[in-house]
Amino acid sequence: MLGGVLHACVHAGGSVSFILPFSRDDARAFWQDQVLPGVNDGSRRVLVARLAGKIVGTVQLDLATPPNQPHRAEVKKLLVHPDARRRGIARSLMAAVEEQARQARRTLLTLDTVTGGFAERLYLSSGYVAIGVIPRYALNFDSSKVESTTVMYKEVPPESNTRHGRD
Ligand SMILES: CC(C)(COP(=O)(O)OP(=O)(O)OC[C@H]1O[C@@H](n2cnc3c(N)ncnc32)[C@H](O)[C@@H]1OP(=O)(O)O)[C@@H](O)C(=O)NCCC(=O)NCCS
Repeated sequence: MLGGVLHACVHAGGSVSFILPFSRDDARAFWQDQVLPGVNDGSRRVLVARLAGKIVGTVQLDLATPPNQPHRAEVKKLLVHPDARRRGIARSLMAAVEEQARQARRTLLTLDTVTGGFAERLYLSSGYVAIGVIPRYALNFDSSKVESTTVMYKEVPPESNTRHGRD
């Protein structure tokens, strides 16, 4: 199902590392070869959103940071199936991934996203700060143009100790 979501997103024009031609086998291989090992060794968390039992969205938290960045994590591959968009699924996934980061004591989240895309709007409205744009960063899905990427971060303070206290 995750392969199906990735496959559909790329074919709908998503800029998520892959370009056409991109087969269902390619999509399945991404999850099996590039994501599953990290899930198995605990360095990658994969969140999924389901509608009627079917996976329609996903996002990842990559905890495999260098030794001098134990407080940072990278948000990766936010994907919502084209048939399930504009229902707040991506926003819910981003809230959930933030909660995962807090639980993992990661207080700085970083990501990059295609400049001017819908995801950039979502991140900005979710408190991410855009620190700059790298021009001509990546080909778009059908290699018809080169797109810029916006680098972003969000500070995620740990839960306040006083939140459930008497203060
Ligand atoms: C970007 C993406 C994840 C959004 O998923 P979604 O579930 O439709 O998003 P939501 O319904 O939670 O919307 C969240 C916000 O995103 C922005 N947004 C998403 N789709 C939009 C659209 N078609 N037009 C305008 N704004 C849009 C809006 O700011 C929206 O907030 P609002 O509803 O309060 O206006 C989805 O379009 C997708 O999978 N795209 C392809 C993959 C991709 O680019 N992923 C990002 C990788 S960094």
